[in-house]
Amino acid sequence: MKRSLLSSSVAFVLLAFGFLQNISSQDIVLPAPDKTGGKPLMLALNERQTIRTFTADNLTNQQLSDLLWAAWGYNRPAEKKRTAPSSRNVQEIDVYAVLQTGLYLYVAETHTLKQIHNRDIRALCGTQDFVGTAPLNLIYVADMAKFGKKEGDEIKDSELLSPYVNTGFIAQNVYLYCASANLGCVVRGMVPKDKLAPEMGLRSNQRIILGHTIGVPVK
Ligand SMILES: Cc1cc2nc3c(=O)[nH]c(=O)nc-3n(C[C@H](O)[C@H](O)[C@H](O)COP(=O)(O)O)c2cc1C
Repeated sequence: MKRSLLSSSVAFVLLAFGFLQNISSQDIVLPAPDKTGGKPLMLALNERQTIRTFTADNLTNQQLSDLLWAAWGYNRPAEKKRTAPSSRNVQEIDVYAVLQTGLYLYVAETHTLKQIHNRDIRALCGTQDFVGTAPLNLIYVADMAKFGKKEGDEIKDSELLSPYVNTGFIAQNVYLYCASANLGCVVRGMVPKDKLAPEMGLRSNQRIILGHTIGVPVK
């Protein structure tokens, strides 16, 4: 009796916490990132490379956690500042994760993958065969609303310069994490953006910048 009262109290607290943080049951609450492990930086740089052949193995939630934190997590949470720099600290890049179980948005505040939908859209993330079967694709998306662009506004190529540069820093963090964790990855410009954007439910003032395919390399 006492135990069931205790477990319902715990369940209530978790539910209330999730509600306050806007977390639902389909979201993936990531474990805390391991900020102490990994290879020394110089070794990771020495091993950084593009890999395009992956096993069918999924990443563990710990690997997902470490990867996303390394990519674009908060390393100074009190200031809402991150592991990658961004021009004028606009932080316009959103990192979406495409898994077999659906499409998710990485939310750094709660270190959570917020589910957008539960369809497997991996095959739409690229034009190369490995993209549809790799366990994880990250899609880097610029939220041009953060530059004052409203839906329907024209977005010039020159206005995407900052988002492209800022994405480069995030993508390099992913490359270095993968080298450090013995994972493989390839950053990709070949993304069918016009087909993928509606499948992701993006607004017209959001722009897909690059894709990044990640998995366990075939030895
Ligand atoms: C902006 C950018 C776009 C890229 N697009 C693709 C791509 O669409 N498909 C692909 O297989 N590789 C892509 N690559 C990976 C490059 O081909 C790769 O980095 C290059 O061959 C050098 O190999 P390395 O990364 O092992 O040094 C891209 C790399 C960059 C930086």
